[in-house]
Amino acid sequence: MNISIIGGGAWGTTLGQTLHDNGHRVLIYDINPKAVEKINNHFHPFFDTILPDEVVATTSLKEVIDFSNYFILSVPTKAVRSVLKEINEVLNKPSVFINVSKGIEPQTLKRVSEIVEEEIDKKNLEGFVVLTGPSHAEEVILRKLTLLVSSSKDQKLSEQIQLIFSNEQYLRVYTSNDLIGCEVGGAVKNAIAVISGACTGLGLGENARAAVITRGIIEIIRVVEIMGGKKETAYGLTGIGDLIVTASSENSRNFTAGKKIGQGIPVDQIYAEQKQTIEGIRTIEAMYHLAKEYNVELPMINAAYDIIFNDLPVKEALQNLLSRDLKSEDF
Ligand SMILES: NC(=O)c1ccc[n+]([C@@H]2O[C@H](COP(=O)([O-])OP(=O)(O)OC[C@H]3O[C@@H](n4cnc5c(N)ncnc54)[C@H](O)[C@@H]3O)[C@@H](O)[C@H]2O)c1
Repeated sequence: MNISIIGGGAWGTTLGQTLHDNGHRVLIYDINPKAVEKINNHFHPFFDTILPDEVVATTSLKEVIDFSNYFILSVPTKAVRSVLKEINEVLNKPSVFINVSKGIEPQTLKRVSEIVEEEIDKKNLEGFVVLTGPSHAEEVILRKLTLLVSSSKDQKLSEQIQLIFSNEQYLRVYTSNDLIGCEVGGAVKNAIAVISGACTGLGLGENARAAVITRGIIEIIRVVEIMGGKKETAYGLTGIGDLIVTASSENSRNFTAGKKIGQGIPVDQIYAEQKQTIEGIRTIEAMYHLAKEYNVELPMINAAYDIIFNDLPVKEALQNLLSRDLKSEDF
């Protein structure tokens, strides 16, 4: 079948190769003509990899909309609303949206599924699926073993997406009926990855990293539950799985950004040096507002917010965390 990919960055282009491996035709849309040119010259825009000739790209939104009625959203979440508005102006057929971006809108605390419902006319919104889980694009492009989860309110649709992406050589997709849990887990783990990186940047060791990952999953569970998802989902690939891969890897832009924060590099400079998407910092902002609005205890995320947005020195933030009232870990 034909599948349109909105966003030809590290992940969108990589998924293009997987879909091609699975016998589908893809057309990638990106606003960056350089990325489009590279893809059409058969190079991945970010990795040192040759793409199949049939993975092609365009800067024309109309062309990518005409191409299919399955749209993979792989732009940074901060661009999702505006790109959907543009799509909605042209779209004139019932379509399925498959989101692979990982984030929550800080101003509204909306998940991508909610943004899609707001921006795409009901008559043209046939369904929504999130495809998420522990997946460095760097590895999937080399066809290294990866497990993902496809989740939707529509079980048949999540099964269809499971089938479209699964590949017996390297990619196995599970389904889940907990759309909220899957969306939230994928977003919040990026915030925890920034914190884990900050610990490394500060010179802390593996004890600290294990502590951040474990207490991080507890913060993820609190957010999943407050947003209406199931806490058990956070124990699976879209929660713990994605947290492990992101919060302990130099391949993760979120971990690396956190590392620089831990070394005292200002956030503006980090953004200037890293042109590719860093979702975690924006998610920390969103989670800070969520914690306030719903009175949820997210101590690590609040500390990270103070470091990034209130210029609190990292050491002082750590001291504040350690000097909180002592408590039990009983669940
Ligand atoms: N890189 C990964 O390993 C990976 C894995 C899973 C999920 N994700 C998620 O996928 C999303 C994208 O990540 P990425 O790593 O591909 O980022 P990226 O920065 O490599 O690519 C994003 C692409 O979107 C394009 N873009 C931005 N605004 C646009 C717009 N308005 N219209 C069209 N194109 C636009 C950019 O030009 C860029 O090519 C993020 O939310 C990320 O968390 C990434």
